[in-house]
Amino acid sequence: MARRRSTPLIRLSRDDSEPLYRQLRNGLVAAIEAGTLGPGDLLPSSRTLALELDVSRNTANLALQELVTEGFIQSIDRVGYVVSQEVGPFVQARREPPGIPIDWDVRFRHPTDPYPHMRKPPNWSDYAYPFVVGQPDPSLFPTRAWNRAGRAALDGENRSISLSDLIDQDDPLLTTLLCERILPARGISATPDQILVSLGSQQGLFLVAHALVGSSSRVGVEDPGYPDARHIFSRRRGTLRAMPIDDQGILVEGTTSGLDVVFVTPSHQYPTNVTLAVGRRQQLLTAAADDDFVVIEDDYDAEFRYQGQPTPALKAMDETGRVVYLGSFSKFLAPGLRLGYIVADAPLIEHLRDIRRYMLRHPAGLLQRTTALMIESGDYAASVRKTRIAVKDKWERASSGLATHLPEWNIPTQTGGLSIWVPGPSGFDATGLARLALGRGIVIEPGNVCFLNEPRPVNYFKLGFSGIAADSIEPGIAALATLIEDQT
Ligand SMILES: Cc1ncc(COP(=O)(O)O)c(C=O)c1O
Repeated sequence: MARRRSTPLIRLSRDDSEPLYRQLRNGLVAAIEAGTLGPGDLLPSSRTLALELDVSRNTANLALQELVTEGFIQSIDRVGYVVSQEVGPFVQARREPPGIPIDWDVRFRHPTDPYPHMRKPPNWSDYAYPFVVGQPDPSLFPTRAWNRAGRAALDGENRSISLSDLIDQDDPLLTTLLCERILPARGISATPDQILVSLGSQQGLFLVAHALVGSSSRVGVEDPGYPDARHIFSRRRGTLRAMPIDDQGILVEGTTSGLDVVFVTPSHQYPTNVTLAVGRRQQLLTAAADDDFVVIEDDYDAEFRYQGQPTPALKAMDETGRVVYLGSFSKFLAPGLRLGYIVADAPLIEHLRDIRRYMLRHPAGLLQRTTALMIESGDYAASVRKTRIAVKDKWERASSGLATHLPEWNIPTQTGGLSIWVPGPSGFDATGLARLALGRGIVIEPGNVCFLNEPRPVNYFKLGFSGIAADSIEPGIAALATLIEDQT
């Protein structure tokens, strides 16, 4: 004998765009799924439903008919509507405790690492004085030229590269133009088979680390240096060795023996902006050949040089093929595009292509072809010139702002890069300053994360000037100096 059930609690809304009969049907399904109405249970009659839920009999009948059609209930002559037996296993599964919750931590095969992460407020652009590092000024993006190139990338012969699955290949126009127009400006001579396009230099670094670094690898990193490189190498289980920085860049003498890989930012060392001196470059390449290690050159912001000419890349001096070069379109177009490239000997490029293929096949063809057309038309070069002029102006304002408002700090002159590395007096707490500054609308980035080993100095911070509006730089530094005065 079926158990007659009372009307389950169902909320109906006359303001809802869903018809009342659908709402009633949904409510009854929810009751069946929750087990309030079990297999074999007798539902209230359409008359009872109509009365108790204040709907018409017709509405109740429509809902019940729908449930019959869907197999949730059956109509039995002279008995009424009964919940189907077939919903049993489903409802059972939902009612039973799910067993032991999964423990993801024991399943992860990829190691994390002990190093602190760089953090910046995700809403940095809402602050009055966002001295964040590595963020662009969207007003400098060549929107019109980009749209023009993007449209052309979907026309005629371009269409196929933009829209096809390239499997493991890249846009041949982009790799050719990199060889003919972009790399020569860095003193690099390369052929297309020595180039792999990446999703920014960050992915380039990840791919190279994937190929070359494992648990037995010893990796030399600049100290202070780029925190993300450290994370990438250490997650490959490599052992890191700190290589100190002085006013000529990375110290090579006596630091390289036994290393497999050295990661460097020669153009403007991250975060100090020191340019690697020519003598040191030679020393590094000689040591690489003698000790047989690979040098990864991250040339992420090479062309932001505000006095004199940009120094050629280290790769330009590479005669043994030991330098793996990472380039990026992040600084002259936008980091959000995620487009960069790796230049290295062809066998390594083939190997990296294979790794990339099973990760993502290839960076979007449309993005590659659009960028290639920007380079081909000269719009990219025009954008580089315009960006360089605008950023140089910001650099001048930031440098003179610091000299005016923090004169006693004697901040070293930094003639390149997109941020200024500010060493506070010893005992100064830049981490505390960064926290307080947020309260006054100022974003700066503490430098302690850039140091490899504990105890990490806390008296440094980075003052980025690429993302902030030019007019805000001087008042922002003045406000920061006032805060520093209050703090000390
Ligand atoms: C030193 C350094 N290398 C690499 C990157 C990553 O750049 P991309 O946007 O090309 O991945 C950054 C980002 O700011 C950086 O500062």
